[in-house]
Amino acid sequence: MSYDFRDKVIAVTGGAGGIGSAMCHRFASGGAQCVVVDIDEARAQKVAGELPGARHLGVGCDLLNWTQIEQLFERIGEEYGRLDVLVNNVGMTSTERFDERDIPSIEREIALNMTSPLVTTRLGIGLLWKSRDPRVISTVSLAGLFPQGETPVYCASKFGLRGAMLSIGLDLREKGILAGSVLPSATDTPMLRREAVDGGNSMQFQEPPQQPSDVVAATVSMLDKPRLEAYARPRESFSARLAMLLPNLLPKILPFFRKRGDAGMVRYLEDLERRGLARRNGGRWELVPER
Ligand SMILES: NC(=O)c1ccc[n+]([C@@H]2O[C@H](COP(=O)([O-])OP(=O)(O)OC[C@H]3O[C@@H](n4cnc5c(N)ncnc54)[C@H](O)[C@@H]3O)[C@@H](O)[C@H]2O)c1
Repeated sequence: MSYDFRDKVIAVTGGAGGIGSAMCHRFASGGAQCVVVDIDEARAQKVAGELPGARHLGVGCDLLNWTQIEQLFERIGEEYGRLDVLVNNVGMTSTERFDERDIPSIEREIALNMTSPLVTTRLGIGLLWKSRDPRVISTVSLAGLFPQGETPVYCASKFGLRGAMLSIGLDLREKGILAGSVLPSATDTPMLRREAVDGGNSMQFQEPPQQPSDVVAATVSMLDKPRLEAYARPRESFSARLAMLLPNLLPKILPFFRKRGDAGMVRYLEDLERRGLARRNGGRWELVPER
């Protein structure tokens, strides 16, 4: 059965970003009232202001600040009296290699990608229980089930989030809240563009990146048919899950994919250049600043 978005109150964290803003547009076009939550208040308000329909809210909130998350839910409670869907979508990654990273940056990435969605879900439960059909969906990643040598901290955070969401999904369903995760692979958003120009993880470019609309479709499918996990690219996720049956073979298998990934990343950078989003500066790539 199709999920009925009409009048549903849906909060999306990281809502001003590539995937988050695409989610808000899809939900709002179905008739939902969206709360766009982002550390960048101006962009959150811009996204909320451009959504079809009325009664959307753009809220500035640092999701690493637990007091601000409490204030966020107070605000949603005052405005709507309940929360129907919480989408934990906020996330970050870094191209700094593990042997060079400073400790605070490791802690920050784990805190934002793993601890913060758990705290947000925990603090949102009171308002979710006021809904007749409460849901929680987290944007995990294929990096939550398959290792990426270049981004071990991101992997740690997403493996952790995946495990937590599977567990929460099992626990909360008995208490009336349906929770699950969407697992995208490389998706064409500001996050991936930053990673590509900074020379990040090329292994994820085996195929051209998917679009935010693909991740949105997987999220909507989870609302239509609640389950623990939805994969934005099912074939790719199946191969990753299969390979994880024998992780000791990965050092032998992965070098075969390196060349293809490197070439895929160059093709993606050239595509960004054609779209006016990236440019070459000397021997380096850089993003073209947004106007
Ligand atoms: N883009 C990809 O290739 C990809 C692949 C798999 C999973 N994901 C996951 O999808 C989710 C969305 O990623 P995206 O690609 O749209 O990224 P994005 O960088 O476009 O958006 C992330 C948003 O989070 C906001 N944000 C950052 N720190 C914050 C904080 N402390 N408090 C509140 N907001 C904060 C940013 O301002 C930004 O608007 C993330 O969880 C990411 O890990 C992305």
